[in-house]
Amino acid sequence: MALLLDASDRPLRHRIADAIVGELREGRLRPGDPLPSTRVLATELKVSRGPVVAAYDELAAAGFIETRPGSGAAIAAGADRAARAGALSSVDPMEPFPTGPPRPARSQARFDLRPGRPDIGFLDQAAWRRAWRHAASQVPTTDISHGPQHVRLRQVLTDHIRRSRGIALEPDDLLITPGVSATLQALPAALGLVGRTVAVEDPGYVEAWTAFSDNGSRISALPVDEDGLDPSTLRRRDAAVYVTPSHQYPLGARMPVARRTALLEWARAADGLIIEDDYDGEFRYDVSPLPALRSLEGADDHVLYIGTASKILVPTLRVSWLAPPKHLREAVRVELERRSLIVNEMTGEAVAEFIANGSLAAHHARAARTYAARRARLVAALARHLPDHRLSGVDAGLHVVLLLPDDVDDHEVSMTLLRHGVSVNPLSAYCVEAVRRGLVIGYAGLSESHADAAVRALARGLT
Ligand SMILES: Cc1ncc(COP(=O)(O)O)c(C=O)c1O
Repeated sequence: MALLLDASDRPLRHRIADAIVGELREGRLRPGDPLPSTRVLATELKVSRGPVVAAYDELAAAGFIETRPGSGAAIAAGADRAARAGALSSVDPMEPFPTGPPRPARSQARFDLRPGRPDIGFLDQAAWRRAWRHAASQVPTTDISHGPQHVRLRQVLTDHIRRSRGIALEPDDLLITPGVSATLQALPAALGLVGRTVAVEDPGYVEAWTAFSDNGSRISALPVDEDGLDPSTLRRRDAAVYVTPSHQYPLGARMPVARRTALLEWARAADGLIIEDDYDGEFRYDVSPLPALRSLEGADDHVLYIGTASKILVPTLRVSWLAPPKHLREAVRVELERRSLIVNEMTGEAVAEFIANGSLAAHHARAARTYAARRARLVAALARHLPDHRLSGVDAGLHVVLLLPDDVDDHEVSMTLLRHGVSVNPLSAYCVEAVRRGLVIGYAGLSESHADAAVRALARGLT
């Protein structure tokens, strides 16, 4: 048998096996034909015997040849058809993944000030790795009839939410989900909101109203002012309202307690549901904390509370939590599971460990200090270089809004700014019906030493 091996740098055993499959494909070998012994073929090919033995093993494992004790190897029945159909004796292993974290795609802008990007540069890497090592050492459960239970994560989150947001919950009140934006998609079906109206803030969180409208709810866009959403604009026939009371997204209002109470009164009177998105309630500056809506007396039956790890930790984790009113919890759980909106067990364990051993509290303290300093520097630079512009939402969160007159095309302005090296979002992109113009400026990643240069570039683009 005169085998011709290809000249590639693939392992010799693969090249020998492929050459035999090639002979089958061309009809020069047929089922039942004997193959030379490995010793003879190794001599013919002028290679050592090992790769030939490995090639025969590979061919036998793939069913191309049969080896019978005493009578050597022969081509198996049907091997010719398999070869002509393109079957291979082996699959080349993939290149190993490069080690080290993937490099993030670099924004073209010199100053990437788009909101929603917390700085994870000061995450304690050793603590983070410890948490994941702990998660990796756990034996995974194998029962996939239910989603992961996240017993420990729900326990530690209960404490975290009580301490940071003043809400008294039991671990059983919480469901763990893969991010707020995905979770909201399940709510219309879970909560009987299909065909009914969900009121949303305008301007507001685009992902929220698309989640509701894409999943069968009608949307009613309610204007927001410097105190956030005005509950008197809600109607009795609205079935639910989605709100961001800690830091209205994106304008940044903190809803005063009188409006919070009025919101609850609407829910009681209209038997409506309040969906409270507390996405960055953990960050506030120079102002005392306002209680979460869910922490108010009588709120348990009317407020579905949602929080996320995206701002306090890492957005790519995809971990969030929600506490529906007790009577709705099971329906929400079932719908989330039906849609496979679950967080894998290992991620849950890592986050639980990171919280339980105090690393999250330490990270939050560091983050809050850093963001407070960055916010102060940015606000000072804006006052210096753009003294005639009004800002919104400086008390809390990780972004501010620079307000522009209603007749300015803020989209056009943001494109001009990009040419000056500054990437920000136009406020109009967050509007349903409202006509509000401005620039949404995230500062989580803007170091204090760069704030002045960034604002100077911004001011150049604006004038
Ligand atoms: C209002 C609001 N809610 C929630 C989130 C977080 O969503 P997720 O948990 O899907 O990352 C964001 C992120 O920017 C947001 O702006």
